[in-house]
Amino acid sequence: MEFENKVVLITGAGSGMGEVTAILFAKEGANVVIVDMFEDRAQKTAEQCKQFGKKVLVIKADISKADDIENVMKKTIDTFGKLDVLVNNAAMLKSVKILDGTIMDSLDDLIRTNFRSVVHFTTLAAPHLAKTKGCIINNSSVGSVSVRSGPLFSSYCATKAAVDSFTKSSALQLGEVGVRVNAVNPGPVRTNFLDNSGIPIEWEHFAKATALGRSSHPSEVANLIVYLASEKAAGITGACYLIDNGQSIK
Ligand SMILES: NC(=O)c1ccc[n+]([C@@H]2O[C@H](COP(=O)([O-])OP(=O)(O)OC[C@H]3O[C@@H](n4cnc5c(N)ncnc54)[C@H](O)[C@@H]3O)[C@@H](O)[C@H]2O)c1
Repeated sequence: MEFENKVVLITGAGSGMGEVTAILFAKEGANVVIVDMFEDRAQKTAEQCKQFGKKVLVIKADISKADDIENVMKKTIDTFGKLDVLVNNAAMLKSVKILDGTIMDSLDDLIRTNFRSVVHFTTLAAPHLAKTKGCIINNSSVGSVSVRSGPLFSSYCATKAAVDSFTKSSALQLGEVGVRVNAVNPGPVRTNFLDNSGIPIEWEHFAKATALGRSSHPSEVANLIVYLASEKAAGITGACYLIDNGQSIK
């Protein structure tokens, strides 16, 4: 098994792509750190990971808070003594408007949750990843390069463009110590993201905006994340992988 004895930390692992990614890593032999702001969701994922006989650490944390991020890293290293893979996956989505000014209401929250957390986790994890020659995978979005299907998600898309840029620059810096950094950029994926974000739109609406006319199952993205974390991807760093059913070309 490719990830035997590896330690993989996944934020937002209580639902959707993070949940399926955690289960897939556990199936491949990894010990997993499951981080989510909702403990019940995290525990549900943990139960599914434990069936593969691996160690599972659940940490309730709000990644928009610096103290919580520090606590996650401390508990991870105290428990396992190392980190091999960091998956920055959790994020929030808001529908906002420029003309009525609502864009300002959630801007700081979006930046803190979707971008600042990625920089903070990367900074705290980097010395540990340098020791294990580990890697980072950031869950970005097709929204970083194409804003057409969701003009009201302008702040969200901007935070994801920041994630792409930071993925490339951090890959350049951390390449010096043998750490790879990549991003996945999904199009529509059938998760609880819209419900969790209070957005009353069906996935079908977003599927129609893609070249293939479909939305993805979370496992499609989880498989790409696991591939990018594997030895097979030893030569891949600083890449932002579109997995968008052709949304960006339509
Ligand atoms: N679903 C899509 O169509 C889609 C498309 C492109 C990108 N993405 C990205 O994929 C990632 C995962 O989204 P998903 O679709 O699996 O969503 P999801 O809502 O199913 O799961 C996200 C999880 O993150 C947790 N979370 C949210 N904010 C948090 C915080 N501040 N602290 C800790 N945990 C928090 C939630 O509790 C939830 O369990 C996100 O970065 C999202 O931007 C999703």
